[in-house]
Amino acid sequence: MSGSPGTTFRLRWERFGPEVEASLRAVYGGRAGEVAERVRSIVAHAHEERPEDLRILDERRLLSPDWLQDPRQVGYVAYADRFAGTLAGIGEHLDHLDGLGVTYLHLMPLLKPRPGPNDGGYAVMDYRAVREDLGTMDDLRALTARLRERGISLEVDLVLNHVAAEHDWARRARAGDPRYRSYFHTHPDRTGPDAWEATLPEVFPDFAPGNFTFDDELGAWVWTTFNSWQWDVDWSNPDVFCEYLDIICHLANAGVEVLRLDAIAFIWKRLGTTCQNQPEVHHLTRALRQAVRVAAPAVAFKAEAIVGPDDLLPYLGVGEHHGKVSDMAYHNALMVQLWSALASRDTRLTEVALGRFAPKPTTTTWGTYVRCHDDIGWAITDADAAAVGLDGHTHRAFLSDFYAGLAPGSFARGLVFQHNPATGDRRISGSLASLAGLGTALDAGDAGRVADAVARVLLLHAVILGFGGVPLLYMGDEVATLNDDRWAEEEGHAGDNRWVHRPRMDWDAVAAAEADPASPSGQVLAGLRHLVAVRRSTPHLHASVESRVVPSPDRRLLVLRRDHPLGPLLQVHNFSEDEVWLPAHLVGDVLGPTASELLGGHRWNLATDALPVRPYGSLWFVAAG
Ligand code: GLC
Repeated sequence: MSGSPGTTFRLRWERFGPEVEASLRAVYGGRAGEVAERVRSIVAHAHEERPEDLRILDERRLLSPDWLQDPRQVGYVAYADRFAGTLAGIGEHLDHLDGLGVTYLHLMPLLKPRPGPNDGGYAVMDYRAVREDLGTMDDLRALTARLRERGISLEVDLVLNHVAAEHDWARRARAGDPRYRSYFHTHPDRTGPDAWEATLPEVFPDFAPGNFTFDDELGAWVWTTFNSWQWDVDWSNPDVFCEYLDIICHLANAGVEVLRLDAIAFIWKRLGTTCQNQPEVHHLTRALRQAVRVAAPAVAFKAEAIVGPDDLLPYLGVGEHHGKVSDMAYHNALMVQLWSALASRDTRLTEVALGRFAPKPTTTTWGTYVRCHDDIGWAITDADAAAVGLDGHTHRAFLSDFYAGLAPGSFARGLVFQHNPATGDRRISGSLASLAGLGTALDAGDAGRVADAVARVLLLHAVILGFGGVPLLYMGDEVATLNDDRWAEEEGHAGDNRWVHRPRMDWDAVAAAEADPASPSGQVLAGLRHLVAVRRSTPHLHASVESRVVPSPDRRLLVLRRDHPLGPLLQVHNFSEDEVWLPAHLVGDVLGPTASELLGGHRWNLATDALPVRPYGSLWFVAAG
């Protein structure tokens, strides 16, 4: 290691301290110097306390700063309890994760939530304790160590827009402590809330309308963007910043390697706006990010900003924040476009939407995904829709109808989530396999339709595994888990139909898929493993390189190109149940007269007129070696 810890710390602070301070100044003005001093002492303490094995990990990461961009990275997202019962139980399923090539495990909220409804754990009561039924902080430390031995990084959620109404800060605020009262946004009467509401959207219009809740004990309205028992914290108070920095350091020193910045878009409020994506959000992230680099360089940030395409890139850093905020962000636009293209068998909107993404900073990466634990909201702009002759509102309504199984010819079986009559907005819940048509096909007993559904599941994964970034496989999707029809029976779940796609892991189904590779779930499992294996051995997929859209000769095909120093990689994805012929010169002009197709493992002769792309098929071409 480079000198004593004292020297290491000093050098890191010299490198990152000024950036921390610059961002603090942008947010806290004249108080920045004093806040920076507090930040310095928090990270100094965390650095001192950092266990030896994690210091070694820090050195490793500093030697491979592109670790999250490597095509060998494969993510998996699971609820600890629903996947394995407890944190210790996770350790018993590592072979399953290994079998999928997983190197990155996101365990859904596992810190102590409020009792009763808690939004799937996103209402945290204590950031320094693990949910009691899952285990203890020591179990968390033991799990991270065990995962590290297998080369798996653990990600946990950092819920930093709000705390549970039962959190100690909220409790003290209610008890009248002015220090903690100033951790929250409170208003004595409706004047403030009414002014803010004029421009605020509603996240849960159905079960939690409005953005403010009156609390009797507090004698005031408190800001609650999500549910009434999730109190938004006030980041304009530097004490809040310091509290969260300390929490991050605590989790980092327990071995957590990636922090998912939950609902990060919402943390700064500005009157007259939607109170999302404000410039201060990026300054605050940068100050946290650069401070954590001092204490624990192994740690990465992932932004959960499910926002419109124009607002997304700043979470990876644009302008002065280039490469200095989150290391990774969810590619929500790609996810939405996958489902849009699948329903319409038309990739033109996808071309437009992806085509206007500016390149992201080369040091950052996308989290690519087909499904997650949340609903799908149709983040498609009117302008993009208009560019391909569609009316945005009509297309979004079509997608809601399609995935709720209401449109003629729909193969999907989803549920409408949060219908907002004021805007007409309807989001969708449902498992990947059910949305891709497996449930309807099995019920119809139609082998052809079953084959189509399986092929759709694999097509969507071929896109996210080949796009560049960390593909995030959602628990159960590897065995084509269908909707949980009994989702409403569990206590506290009935009001929130996102639980339809969050069933407990069915380990019997996994065993059955392993035993019968010809079954639908067996085909999905084997197909996914194959995609992962090809991805791992394709250096062209390093996330520093962009996937760019190539104008497609056929609206059913999506063509993507990656220009890696090793040579171009061309991918062709067929979003229809038809065999489609692709003009061979499109590939030949880029790769020469013969090409290797990586997924099928064959050489293709391009000195021909047209190439067949099978229904829902994907082809990944590189120059023949
Ligand atoms: C994030 C989570 C979602 C939760 C919300 C509020 O969007 O993914 O499940 O409801 O934050 O914490």
